[in-house]
Amino acid sequence: MTRFGASHLVVLLVAAISVAQAVKIEVHGKDNKTCIYAVLSVNFTVLYEGNGTMENATFQLPDSLSSNGSTCGGNNSAPLLNMGFGTGHSLSLNFSHTDGKFSGDVLTFTYNTSDAKLFPGAKNKSVKHVAVNSLMESVPLNTIYTCRSVKAIASEAVVMVFWHVGIQAFVENGTISKNESFCKADVSTTVSPVTTQTTSTVTPIPTKPPPDLPAVGNYTVKNGSDPCLLANMGLQLNITITENQARVININSNSTASGRCGDKHSVLLLQDTDATIQFHFFVEQSKFFLKEVQANVSLLVNGSTTTLNSSNGNLKYWQAFVGSSYICRSEQRLVVTDKLAINTFNVWLQPFEVKNGTFSRAEECSLDDDSILIPIIVGAALAGLIVIVVIAYVIGRRSSYAGYQTL
Ligand SMILES: *[C@@H]1O[C@H](CO)[C@@H](O)[C@H](O)[C@H]1NC(C)=O
Ligand SMILES: *[C@@H]1O[C@H](CO)[C@@H](O)[C@H](O)[C@H]1NC(C)=O
Ligand SMILES: *[C@@H]1O[C@H](CO)[C@@H](O)[C@H](O)[C@H]1NC(C)=O
Ligand SMILES: *[C@@H]1O[C@H](CO)[C@@H](O)[C@H](O)[C@H]1NC(C)=O
Ligand SMILES: *[C@@H]1O[C@H](CO)[C@@H](O)[C@H](O)[C@H]1NC(C)=O
Ligand SMILES: *[C@@H]1O[C@H](CO)[C@@H](O)[C@H](O)[C@H]1NC(C)=O
Ligand SMILES: *[C@@H]1O[C@H](CO)[C@@H](O)[C@H](O)[C@H]1NC(C)=O
Ligand SMILES: *[C@@H]1O[C@H](CO)[C@@H](O)[C@H](O)[C@H]1NC(C)=O
Ligand SMILES: *[C@@H]1O[C@H](CO)[C@@H](O)[C@H](O)[C@H]1NC(C)=O
Ligand SMILES: *[C@@H]1O[C@H](CO)[C@@H](O)[C@H](O)[C@H]1NC(C)=O
Ligand SMILES: *[C@@H]1O[C@H](CO)[C@@H](O)[C@H](O)[C@H]1NC(C)=O
Ligand SMILES: *[C@@H]1O[C@H](CO)[C@@H](O)[C@H](O)[C@H]1NC(C)=O
Repeated sequence: MTRFGASHLVVLLVAAISVAQAVKIEVHGKDNKTCIYAVLSVNFTVLYEGNGTMENATFQLPDSLSSNGSTCGGNNSAPLLNMGFGTGHSLSLNFSHTDGKFSGDVLTFTYNTSDAKLFPGAKNKSVKHVAVNSLMESVPLNTIYTCRSVKAIASEAVVMVFWHVGIQAFVENGTISKNESFCKADVSTTVSPVTTQTTSTVTPIPTKPPPDLPAVGNYTVKNGSDPCLLANMGLQLNITITENQARVININSNSTASGRCGDKHSVLLLQDTDATIQFHFFVEQSKFFLKEVQANVSLLVNGSTTTLNSSNGNLKYWQAFVGSSYICRSEQRLVVTDKLAINTFNVWLQPFEVKNGTFSRAEECSLDDDSILIPIIVGAALAGLIVIVVIAYVIGRRSSYAGYQTL
């Protein structure tokens, strides 16, 4: 576990030129041969509850790491790279391989808020975990995955910013490969050659100009193996950075969906690379509706990564009777806070009483359905008619009664 092994000149150059914080770590097998090799830089931002206020802890992955807990894997266990640091913190990544390719599977960040150095004044002192599976795409075996671009991964209260990443697992014969497999971000942003790499070649994360319409994702939450919440929709975040600066981000339709289902409260949690959104559905008087939205979005603004945490627990969108589904083909703008609005497209959802994994009879939103006016007009006309009949009847009774009296 030395820093900057001389045998890895390429990595050394990259690290030395732009950042001092690239950390190298190797895992050795029983035969003392390297089976996992990694070099990486990570900035962490963790939101935690301090003494009465929410605080951000920001720190970097230190270069004194312990590889304790790491394993090369075996017939029935996956290789695991575990990087322990400080008092009870760790970042771990396990690996899988199929069809001549390997990839990182689950990245788990464990932090211990009882560490007063990193989390001064933390109210709840406990060990917390966040897990994501979006650090690296799969690359051919016997190559080293490299990603010089900045990649921010946000999950729950944590934002991890990775850059200058090099990872090889399933290393054969203990020899790190000289062949690199570049990440998509590096390839698509025409990264300059290593020797001219400077700190300013940072890939902005969501720089895309006003994007196309978002693709519709089919998201499912399961209770055991039974789908209990269905949501097909395209989502686009509109984030107000300053008065005249907005950022529009499409949520990837491949985002991971999770959550939980209850009788009166169901949750859909979507995790995209740079955004995490929670939708809370509640039941009141046999109707369900979207009551709460919590969103954490990491953005690169003026060259630095910032996190927007927006939530509102007092909403009333997407209402329909329990037992049916809600459909809205038209674009809707759900205002969450003054900083965040969500534009939604082709929404079809059912957060309660999903039967047999399919949507029940749909209630259409009023935006879709102009003909809703017709029943209202007909209803009003009928009510009017009834009132007239009743009045006529009463008048008729009165006059005939009066007639008898004069007799
Ligand atoms: C493994 O290699 C290191 C140096 O690379 C050496 O110091 C150590 O003694 C070796 N251990 C075994 C069990 O061979
Ligand atoms: C990581 O954190 C350091 C120190 O806070 C900062 O100088 C650097 O710009 C950060 N890097 C990225 C890519 O966010
Ligand atoms: C919390 O803050 C209050 C006032 O700001 C202070 O009186 C109290 O001692 C603090 N508690 C801790 C545990 O720091
Ligand atoms: C490694 O972990 C084991 C058990 O998990 C522990 O007993 C040991 O002290 C650890 N070693 C280091 C150097 O942290
Ligand atoms: C893994 O499987 C191979 C054959 O399938 C066997 O020879 C080897 O002993 C197994 N290794 C372990 C660690 O179980
Ligand atoms: C990686 O670890 C996670 C849990 O930490 C587990 O769910 C997953 O199956 C593991 N992946 C492999 C390939 O073993
Ligand atoms: C590992 O060693 C074997 C036998 O010496 C050789 O056939 C194979 O090509 C080597 N693999 C790599 C990646 O060097
Ligand atoms: C999503 O669901 C819709 C309607 O059920 C279906 O038409 C569409 O093909 C699905 N898309 C995917 C990617 O499965
Ligand atoms: C984003 O919001 C701003 C102001 O809230 C608005 O002017 C702009 O049209 C919105 N853009 C989209 C694509 O919804
Ligand atoms: C979603 O995943 C599929 C296959 O995993 C891939 O072909 C497709 O390009 C992905 N879509 C996006 C928008 O990333
Ligand atoms: C935490 O950091 C983010 C940006 O990194 C910022 O937007 C937010 O306001 C900070 N929160 C607190 C409580 O400092
Ligand atoms: C559930 O779906 C399957 C096939 O999609 C169908 O054969 C079955 O009859 C359905 N059951 C109910 C109760 O609707």
